[in-house]
Amino acid sequence: MKIVVTGCKGQLGTALRSLSKKHDSYDWMFLSRNDLDITDNDRIEAFFSENDMSGSVLINCSAYTDVEKAEDETEKAFLINRDGAKNLARASSSFCFRLIHISTDFVFSGDKGSPYKEDDVPDPVSVYGKSKYAGELEVLKCKKNCLIIRTSWLYSATHNTFVKKIYSRLIDGKPFSVVLDETGSPTYAADLAEMLVSIIERIKNVNVFPTGIYHFCNKGEVTRYYFAKKIAEIIRNSTSIQPVLSDELNMKARRPHNSALDCVRSVKQFGLKIRPWEEALKEAVNEIRSE
Ligand SMILES: NC(=O)c1ccc[n+]([C@@H]2O[C@H](COP(=O)([O-])OP(=O)(O)OC[C@H]3O[C@@H](n4cnc5c(N)ncnc54)[C@H](OP(=O)(O)O)[C@@H]3O)[C@@H](O)[C@H]2O)c1
Repeated sequence: MKIVVTGCKGQLGTALRSLSKKHDSYDWMFLSRNDLDITDNDRIEAFFSENDMSGSVLINCSAYTDVEKAEDETEKAFLINRDGAKNLARASSSFCFRLIHISTDFVFSGDKGSPYKEDDVPDPVSVYGKSKYAGELEVLKCKKNCLIIRTSWLYSATHNTFVKKIYSRLIDGKPFSVVLDETGSPTYAADLAEMLVSIIERIKNVNVFPTGIYHFCNKGEVTRYYFAKKIAEIIRNSTSIQPVLSDELNMKARRPHNSALDCVRSVKQFGLKIRPWEEALKEAVNEIRSE
């Protein structure tokens, strides 16, 4: 079976590439933005006409992910996150492949007092969240071939996102502040990559492609502040970290106060064992430390 990964240079794409070595019975194809720009419909048509995709799975890891910049680049965010998703979903029908599209906890407002389930109604509060939700709606129009996995607070040891940034600041040793009033479920990109492969294994074995929306994140929830404190604890670093409220930071984009995800549906459907976020974080931090 062929597995095509778009946006392969991002966090999740990179995690899938690492994992592909363990699953070398699949015919993996990794596409960067240069190889396949998902906003370019002519290129998409030409690419899938040249490459036989029937029976393949495409994992769409490409996205516009800069939450702050999106507030000023609305058009670009929608072009990639809505129109790009639409292009791939349509191509999945025309070229007979299955699409696994990745979405985000930021489709929710954050006002719910408990983890969000798949059926909770999205109500995004930022341009990024709105553009990703618009992408979900496009993908859901192609019901038969498409599956959406929403994830949250994605991090890796390879890219300079929250965990790596906090790690660097701790090593730097100067006191800093981290937001206290944002709660979520951190997700190690390597664990999400494993989950995606386990879905594909299931398709291969029982020939049933699940459709609709599923949530995946590591088990548990935490505030950004305690997440940062945990990183300090793992590396036994005593740099002072101060809690700060999001309002004090003058950020352009609003972020959900609570965007933890409930993964019960995924656990039941795919028989997953999801490890706690603390355990996954330890592995990622040790990887960063060994670099
Ligand atoms: N990061 C998070 O905290 C988070 C949380 C929840 C959900 N998610 C979702 O998880 C998925 C993966 O996120 P990530 O953190 O791996 O993202 P990422 O590291 O920002 O990677 C996104 C990739 O998409 C590529 N890309 C951008 N525009 C493209 C286009 N027009 N055509 C093809 N590729 C394009 C980028 O290419 P360049 O390298 O050339 O820019 C980049 O390699 C996304 O759907 C994201 O919305 C992320």
